[in-house]
Amino acid sequence: MAQIKSDALVFYGATGDLAFKKIFPALHMMVKRGNLDAPIIGVARGDYDLEKLRARAKESIQKHGKFEEESFQKFCSLLEFVGGDYTDPQTFSRIRQALGSAKNPTHYLAIPPVLFPKIIEQLDLSGCAKGARVIVEKPFGTDFESARALNKVLLSKFSESAIYRIDHYLGKRPVNNLVFFRFVNSLLEPVWNKDHIESIQITMAEDFGIQSRGAFYDVTGAIRDVIQNHLFQILCNLTMEPPKALDSESIRDEKVKVLKAITPLRGQDVVKGQYKGYLNEKAVPPNSKTETFAAMRLHIDSPRWEGVPFFIRAGKNLPVTCTEILVRFKHHPSAYSSIATQPNHIRFRISPDVTIAFGMLIMAQGEDMSSVLSEVQGNPTPFPNEKDAYERVLTDAMAGDPTHFARQDYVEEAWKIVDDYLASDFPVYEYEIGTWGPENVNELILPPGGWNNPAVLKK
Ligand code: BG6
Repeated sequence: MAQIKSDALVFYGATGDLAFKKIFPALHMMVKRGNLDAPIIGVARGDYDLEKLRARAKESIQKHGKFEEESFQKFCSLLEFVGGDYTDPQTFSRIRQALGSAKNPTHYLAIPPVLFPKIIEQLDLSGCAKGARVIVEKPFGTDFESARALNKVLLSKFSESAIYRIDHYLGKRPVNNLVFFRFVNSLLEPVWNKDHIESIQITMAEDFGIQSRGAFYDVTGAIRDVIQNHLFQILCNLTMEPPKALDSESIRDEKVKVLKAITPLRGQDVVKGQYKGYLNEKAVPPNSKTETFAAMRLHIDSPRWEGVPFFIRAGKNLPVTCTEILVRFKHHPSAYSSIATQPNHIRFRISPDVTIAFGMLIMAQGEDMSSVLSEVQGNPTPFPNEKDAYERVLTDAMAGDPTHFARQDYVEEAWKIVDDYLASDFPVYEYEIGTWGPENVNELILPPGGWNNPAVLKK
């Protein structure tokens, strides 16, 4: 199916939370830019109709998007609604009818994966799967076995090239820029290895809790929610070998090689935390041991990275909301060693703003021969019309470009790294809201030179 433009979009879960926060604003922008001019069929259960769906879309775009009357009217003219139960064949006959003459529809399953088997079966029986592609959301399964079972369901009716597994971090330009930046700047490649890099750390901090997502979050936890997918993608971008070519498969092949070379997590590689008050959140069981924070150390067993420790840390209710990477360089002994008191670094900030900074030592003020760390910063000016992550991945899926989606083998390899650890019962330490996780993190998992705690100016 690659590179065939899809001629209709059917999205299941049209009245859900994800549709409200992300999908409607993304679709509206696609329509506005002229990237979507095909029927958009919202499917949902329950008591809904087209008028209500339009009203919900309007509210969603006004709240989470860039509402504009003219493009919204165009969006409404493309929008259709099909209501009904996902297990009822009648629902799918109606979808088939709504698809009209569309030959290559895209079915976007923005719904819980437990519903996938029935829907996939009905798509096939109703003829809706013919010539179609399917988009599914992360987390893809809850472990290796469930991911494999889900893949089996999807692959029974769709070919791998017609399956688009969303990880919206791959739709973020600064995340893709990591690969771009590494390989277009010839300065970097000679030092991007174990001989020169001391350690790499990735922090994804959020200064809010689980909001109203207790039911989802409690069976998921930080490792499944953001580390096994978003942060592993960042890690792959930072560490993969140069792809042979820029096509989707060459890039995705290199990422899978990184995951295969990562040693599976052991108990001593991870610290888990839970913020104080988590147990009082709605839909969280009183004895829950779900982690809202995790810090881990990983190793990549490859000639490039042998012996280099990688650190990943993610958590809810931390002091700031920021995703940042710090690459620390080794110090090479010389007559200047006693003056060079701090390592060089490169700092990539992915969000809330985008920064690339080189940390270099310069002569400190005064007459002494002493050094001070100074950052040379690049702050790429955000393009005012930049696509948001969901808009980018949905545009790519409709256009048939799978580069920024997780392939089956990628998802399965990612689970293999965390599976054994997640299946065991390791302690979860409590932490105060607004701190950098449990107090013992620094005793158990500490990057050389310490954790980089991003500072963000609060608005
Ligand atoms: C989602 C997670 O995938 O990513 C959330 O389920 C998390 O828990 C979110 O808050 C973060 O995405 P972003 O784009 O806001 O960094």
